[in-house]
Amino acid sequence: MNFLDKMVIPQSLENLILLKYILTLALIIFLPFVGILLISSFVSVFFNLAGRKYLKEHYIRFSKEIIDIVAASKSILLVLGVIPAISLILAYSQLLHASKIYIEGSLMLALLLLIVAVFLIINYKYTFNLDQILKYSRGEKVEVSGPPVNTEVEEKVIRFSEENLKRNKKSGVWGVILLFVSTYIFLSSIQMSYDPSKWSEKVSIFTIIFSLKGIIKYLYFLLASLALGSGATLFYYFRFRGKDPSDSTYFEFVKQICVWTGIISVAALPLFVLINLLMTPQSAISISLFTLTAVVLIMLFAAIHLYYIIVKKWSNSYSAYLFYILILFFAISVIIDQTSFSYSTKKQEMVLAANYDLIVAEAKEKAGKGPAISGKDIFDGRCSACHRFDIKLVGPAYKDVLPKYEGHMDQLIAFISNPVKKNPAFPPMPNQGLKPKEVQAIADYIMKTYKQK
Ligand code: HEC
Repeated sequence: MNFLDKMVIPQSLENLILLKYILTLALIIFLPFVGILLISSFVSVFFNLAGRKYLKEHYIRFSKEIIDIVAASKSILLVLGVIPAISLILAYSQLLHASKIYIEGSLMLALLLLIVAVFLIINYKYTFNLDQILKYSRGEKVEVSGPPVNTEVEEKVIRFSEENLKRNKKSGVWGVILLFVSTYIFLSSIQMSYDPSKWSEKVSIFTIIFSLKGIIKYLYFLLASLALGSGATLFYYFRFRGKDPSDSTYFEFVKQICVWTGIISVAALPLFVLINLLMTPQSAISISLFTLTAVVLIMLFAAIHLYYIIVKKWSNSYSAYLFYILILFFAISVIIDQTSFSYSTKKQEMVLAANYDLIVAEAKEKAGKGPAISGKDIFDGRCSACHRFDIKLVGPAYKDVLPKYEGHMDQLIAFISNPVKKNPAFPPMPNQGLKPKEVQAIADYIMKTYKQK
């Protein structure tokens, strides 16, 4: 389980701070993307099922277009979803190493579920497209060729398309369920990292999953994703793709869905922003936290106004502003959380940095490059209270006693390491408690220097 520990490399303080920035960046990419993926998959599956049940063409069309945009290519899912998830797990395993909390386990589980969910969603999109192709080919056969020769093939096609549709529903529903579970575990695990006072060995995956704060954080995430998803869809349909006048009923349908889900989620978000502030541990309260929270509230206020303008009188350019504001809102929300993470884990950071310094010092000593020991420093600090080179103080002048050690360095070293009574005219010299390397250095220094004085 702790195999990630083996990948932990001791980090200096500077590296740890850099890692925190990398973590924030990974979260700014990962959370909005996975939020949009979750919401659009959910919306798509919902309208797909409802559209087939109540035979609404608009529903099915919207459902298909939505999933085609968000799951446009596998590489996007990989670059914006899976890779940031892996990097944030690695960053956490470095930053929270040797602490009492182990969230990497639940994060790994969430990643695994996410990967399976992504595959199911890709399969969902694929079977959706296949369904349309099959429908199209069937329609053609019925009209163009009547002869009974084709009925066998036709039956096969019908059976295949029924099977395909079943798969489509299954992979869609399971993909969405797994997306919900995996994003929930991600969010509640990350929430756990914010409050070091709650860290203890007793925290297991269950504690992480069944925590009230985790649930609140997740609702915050869902609402923010809903708002961003609706903003992105508005932007895509009316700005990016351009409004097609021949399709106005369909576009009106899309607009209504987006505007109302957007308004409801943006109106509910300030409450969660405030609860989030209240949930911040004492150790993480800072001026920047309050400032950023105020900024985020102002952005939500602006977003509501933009929705109002869009409802009242249609204008293409506003959907773009709305989208930018919602993206920024999401990013700043992540930064708020990471600021409090950064504050509240200062102690953890110091512990890791101190560990690092220790390891470096040990490594240097092993390599024989310990902190350079200077004989002069030792003389100034330890010997000069009782010794001078040319005059006697408490102890004899070095120029009087050192000549007898010429060529007998070992004896001098032995004396300094463990002074024995020498001259009855002096009191005994107290042991200076030096390390062997220090004795070597001071002996070298005084032997070299006494001749020059
Ligand atoms: C608290 C005072 C005191 C300090 C500090 C002190 N010494 Fe001495 N040292 C003496 C005294 C007293 C003697 C004479 C001892 C004797 O003759 O028995 C002495 C003697 C010596 C001698 C001569 C030994 C001999 O063979 O006659 C040397 C060499 C010496 N000290 C080196 C050092 C060095 C190097 C340091 C610093 C690491 C140091 N001492 C720190 C008090 C001190």
